Amino acid sequence: MYIFKDYYRNKVRLSFDDHPFSKSPKHVWIICRHEDKWLLTKHKERGLEFPGGKVEPGEQAEQAAIREIMEETGGVVENIAYIGQYLVEGKAGVVIKNVYYAEILNLLHQDTYFETEGPVLLAQIPSNVKINKGYSFIMKDDVLTHSMNYIKKEMRFMESKS
Ligand code: GTP
Repeated sequence: MYIFKDYYRNKVRLSFDDHPFSKSPKHVWIICRHEDKWLLTKHKERGLEFPGGKVEPGEQAEQAAIREIMEETGGVVENIAYIGQYLVEGKAGVVIKNVYYAEILNLLHQDTYFETEGPVLLAQIPSNVKINKGYSFIMKDDVLTHSMNYIKKEMRFMESKS
């Protein structure tokens, strides 16, 4: 279990165990890879971030993840894997979010990307992401750092393609 503060100084607990905080979390966040690049979306207010959002009533968390990727980037999921879960003690209450790693087959043009400006492909996440004003607060805590390390170590199917 990792414990740290987020960009807003809220307490975050992150674990790569199987659903440690909730079997039915209400939020999802997906670290996406497409053609050897990271696939992000540009949120109109928050800036660049990996896609994600809320689980809708009647939806499973993984279905929400696949839907959010399509809505925010037009990405068609080829593989998706749960990697961990985090809990944020926010000012207005607790948020529990599943983290996924997904490989994206192709990008379909969407007429709307909802609250975002659509897909952004990056060869690398900049090392100054925590202070870079172009990036969302969601990218500015150790959820990103630990999740990227976890993916690089554990996600063998990523390397098999290169
Ligand atoms: P809407 O309900 O869609 O208007 O958005 P909201 O931002 O009010 O709700 P949401 O439940 O998504 O987030 C509530 C608060 O939880 C945010 O203001 C953040 O403080 C916190 N939060 C949500 N997601 C994350 C996240 O991925 N990381 C961190 N550190 N905090 C988060």
